[in-house]
Amino acid sequence: MTDTNHGDMFSEEHLKPFLPDQAFKARALIHDQALYRKAEADRLSYWAEMAENIEWINKWDQVLDDSNPPYYKWFVNGKLNVAANCLDRQVDKGLGNKKALIFEGENGDCTTLTYSDLLKEVSKFSSVLAKLGVNKGDAVTIWMPMVPEAIITMLACTRIGAMHSVVFGGFSPEALKDRILDSKSKVLVTADGAFRRGKTIPMKSAADEVLQNCPSIERVVIVERTGIPFEKVPNRDFTWTELISGAESDFKAVIMDAEDPLFILYSSGTTGKPKGILHTTGGYLVGVNATFRYVFDHKENDIYWCTADIGWITGHSYIVYGPLSNGSTVFIYEGVPDYPAKDRFWELIEKYKITVFYTAPTAIRSFMRWGNQFPDGCNLGSLRLLGSVGEPINPEAWLWYHEHIGKGHCPIVDTWWQTETGMIMITPLPGVTPLKPGSATNTFPGIEADVVDDQGRPTKTGQRGFLVIKSPWPAMLRTLYEDHERYEYTYWKQYEGLYFTGDGAWKDADGYFWIMGRVDDVLNVSGHRIGTMEVESALVDHHSVAEAAVIGKVHEIKGHAITAFVTLKEGFEGSEQLAQELKKHVGKMIGAIARPEEIFFTYELPKTRSGKIMRRLLRDIAENRELGDVTTLMDPQVVASIKDGFKE
Ligand code: WTA
Repeated sequence: MTDTNHGDMFSEEHLKPFLPDQAFKARALIHDQALYRKAEADRLSYWAEMAENIEWINKWDQVLDDSNPPYYKWFVNGKLNVAANCLDRQVDKGLGNKKALIFEGENGDCTTLTYSDLLKEVSKFSSVLAKLGVNKGDAVTIWMPMVPEAIITMLACTRIGAMHSVVFGGFSPEALKDRILDSKSKVLVTADGAFRRGKTIPMKSAADEVLQNCPSIERVVIVERTGIPFEKVPNRDFTWTELISGAESDFKAVIMDAEDPLFILYSSGTTGKPKGILHTTGGYLVGVNATFRYVFDHKENDIYWCTADIGWITGHSYIVYGPLSNGSTVFIYEGVPDYPAKDRFWELIEKYKITVFYTAPTAIRSFMRWGNQFPDGCNLGSLRLLGSVGEPINPEAWLWYHEHIGKGHCPIVDTWWQTETGMIMITPLPGVTPLKPGSATNTFPGIEADVVDDQGRPTKTGQRGFLVIKSPWPAMLRTLYEDHERYEYTYWKQYEGLYFTGDGAWKDADGYFWIMGRVDDVLNVSGHRIGTMEVESALVDHHSVAEAAVIGKVHEIKGHAITAFVTLKEGFEGSEQLAQELKKHVGKMIGAIARPEEIFFTYELPKTRSGKIMRRLLRDIAENRELGDVTTLMDPQVVASIKDGFKE
């Protein structure tokens, strides 16, 4: 991976750095290098200073305990409560009447909750959860559309010290089941259904298909969002409304240790089984609080909109905990950008006077393709800052975003981070960092990253390598839930003392990071991580499939499109109908986001002599590239036959 030189990328005129706009810089929280210098001079006292922005019930004794790597502890013996930091503290500071959450539904219904309102609702639902038998340390699964109750539930869990495990609403009941079983959740909070492009999709009745196989679930709470009918199992199932009416609204936040678990969030890895990424309380809050404030240059009157779903880490860190712990006003939208029309997002920006907008490159590429008339038809004058997350943003999309959405004056923060990192790690600070379209620029103050070769040695300027983090950071994952071995193996065994991100990257002459995407068997489809093995397991689960190999084919909008090569069992014939059935089966096992775009039937899969499927080769075939070295192949004939099949 170390032979390609990218050092001359910048000879192109349009890739010259964009300097911060003077007017923006003049008002920016960070407008010079002081914070970077402070962090470089003494990283731990810098993080201690960041921690001063959090309200602690008992202050910590030690900033970082690194005596037992890779099990790090931050803010040792500190006591706090995350929900109290997001709510009670804001009300105490006089922000009770400030809007905390503005929600618009797909149908145009709107709900606004002030910080006082949100505190009241969260306290009530905390009382409800406690009555349902949820205690500190228990797990609660949340499978819901983007409605305020989802956020209320998350905060109620953290208020009582229960771990939430949010499962993206678009995952299938089967995927929900796997995550419930792994986390051993006691309670499931879900909805009767969700609105999607004017239709309704059932959730509770779908969950019922798997709940009999989830023995840990004692209670199910249902938010009635759509009116879709569902059955209630006596003593197990309750509606949100019946529980919340009469619930006490003075539930006191539970005292948590800095290292008490805060939440589990499942993410795809290189095996068929998703990883339960575990985050803890103190360090996570310090990390997301500081990054939200400085990366999004928090201003009191901002109306901030992050378009992620709460089912992903972006939703956790930068819809809920980062913004609310800073007392920001958060806008959330239930629907998709092209329903009822392709100007839906721009209409919302105009209507709510959104000032900060944070979205994903895949969405930006779709907006580009739909045409300029949609943003041009709306008044986007309220915007002052734009963000991007989830995958590398190609310079073309960056420039379009800058010109057509930011009207040339909004800085773009391209933020690199992961479910595991919990917080933004590589990012510009909008008032100081010269921006280069396509680069996430530099590490956030207090973060140390590098690009190394396969021996763990720093690469030279312009040379590709692997992105690593060199020292622990407060919001880092602490382990994989009940799987320490996999935690050590996945992140810490590659290179001694370095955290392995799984991403390829290179650095330019200015030290800017250029992230190139995953180097492992994880795909990035529309900004969502999907493990090739997960899709393969879903395919072989079908009675007709003998073997499957899944790759990501480069795709203009989605980044990667899932492409599957399938060999069938004796007696089955490949057909368009079977391909459709297999796609549907993957949708059932994982969710629509994992449905392969293309399925190819083949007699055999290309394997190395040791039996490993050669994905690189399949990728080359799918993308019609010349084939590289095939001498290690067990049966070179296989390649020829696959290639022929592909051309048909
Ligand atoms: C990719 C999402 C390039 C990367 C917050 C990473 C990015 C994975 C960027 C994590 C970015 C995220 N530039 N690539 N700005 N942001 N990625 O866990 O491959 O859903 O490893 O977290 O997304 O995805 P995850």
